[in-house]
Amino acid sequence: IAVRLADGSLRGRHALVTSGPTHEPIDPVRYIANRSSGTQGTAIAEALRDLGADVSFVTGPAATPPPAGVRVIRVETARQMQDAVTGALPADAAIFAAAVADWRVSQAADRKMKKGADGLPQLDLAENPDILAGVAQMRQGRPPLVIGFAAETDNVIENATAKRMRKGCDWIVANDVSPETGIMGGTENAVTLIAENSVETWPRATKSQVARKLARRIADHLGRGDD
Ligand code: CTP
Ligand code: CA
Repeated sequence: IAVRLADGSLRGRHALVTSGPTHEPIDPVRYIANRSSGTQGTAIAEALRDLGADVSFVTGPAATPPPAGVRVIRVETARQMQDAVTGALPADAAIFAAAVADWRVSQAADRKMKKGADGLPQLDLAENPDILAGVAQMRQGRPPLVIGFAAETDNVIENATAKRMRKGCDWIVANDVSPETGIMGGTENAVTLIAENSVETWPRATKSQVARKLARRIADHLGRGDD
């Protein structure tokens, strides 16, 4: 018997969170990565845990330590992150807060590349799998609630709305990471939650406040029993 408590809690629910950057090796000492402290993803995992969820936290090499009381799966590359996500399913909600590197070096060198005689190295890139889109478009076993992030510097709402459609996720959390906002690398966030029929801008707040609000929304949504 599935017990569904409409009390705003996430007890008995499994939430999957991706967080942090991925690192894509160039050679044993160099890599390609996005900027990501992992702070927002970590805060979301904590907020979901605090509402009673079982949390799987798939994290790239982030500066901040992972939360206590969650299942931590450490990865380095996007492809490893994708495998870890697949392995952690099924889930009631999946939140993709990681800053996944869009490209990897198609053939990482297994010896350190040296400066010198041969001139500048030419890096041949390959596109990484889109982990969020893969899960959002699953035909079987798709989590009932799939949430993506969109960190943009221009036309934030427009780009994020298009991104939600393209990827097929239910909600997208958009934020403006232009240098003048000071959001990138900071402790605060100013986000707009975009769903199929709504666009809601939240006041600028700490990343943990944003995380708690999002976690409550997730609990409300799942508690409505329309999954
Ligand atoms: N994402 C992902 N796998 C990727 C790239 C992105 O799961 N290979 C997820 C991110 O975790 C985030 C969302 O997709 O939740 C949007 O990421 P973003 O980098 O903004 O989107 P992209 O499709 O990579 O587009 P852009 O060209 O703007 O980087
Ligand atoms: Ca990207």
